[in-house]
Amino acid sequence: MTSPLILVNLKTYKEGMGNRAHQIATAAQLVARESGAVIGIAPGYIDLHPLCHHFTIPVYAQHVDGYEPGAKTGHVTVDAIRFAGAAGSLVNHSERRLTLAEIELSVRALQAHKLSAVVCSNNEITSAGAAALGPAYVAIEPPELIGSGISVSKANPEIIKRSVTAVHAVNPKVKVLTGAGIQSGECVKIAVDLGTDGVLLASSVVKAPDPVAVLRDLVSKL
Ligand code: G3P
Repeated sequence: MTSPLILVNLKTYKEGMGNRAHQIATAAQLVARESGAVIGIAPGYIDLHPLCHHFTIPVYAQHVDGYEPGAKTGHVTVDAIRFAGAAGSLVNHSERRLTLAEIELSVRALQAHKLSAVVCSNNEITSAGAAALGPAYVAIEPPELIGSGISVSKANPEIIKRSVTAVHAVNPKVKVLTGAGIQSGECVKIAVDLGTDGVLLASSVVKAPDPVAVLRDLVSKL
């Protein structure tokens, strides 16, 4: 059985940049190796290239623009993250919402280069819409629980169940992640037992004084 994906979004937290991004990646690689779990990270763009080259864990961008390379300024194309060594990208994160047309453009561009698209959604209806694009993952995150310290697994297991059903009704090959307030092995286990293929999380790892301890706990019940 393939391990569920534990994907840690470093967001723009000060505790997730520069040396600290390297520390979190080191922790993720250590815990992945000792547990066999798949742990990925999504750092800011500045840290993307060095982390891809220093670590073997999957490294994702937090956003990507679906434009062709060329005469565009201030955009980050799929080629840019691909040459940096990224495994894929988040698309339409709750803190980086896109139009439907932009989501499609980004997903298609990632797919064209065989990179993994993780399309974020806020409920089962948008989860189903995202699934229609056939990304590698749809990640359901109720916005009101993001960064709240209240776990979606415990506060709203129903939305996870409904999203898994909605996504698989559209395309059974699309994997489902869930996120918001995920902080322990118990949260991860509930999410996986509800039919997801892993979790997308941030603050509990990024802000932890000891990310190794939190990551060990996160994978402890897999
Ligand atoms: O991208 C993950 C995120 O939105 C969840 O954040 O801090 O609630 O784990 P957090």
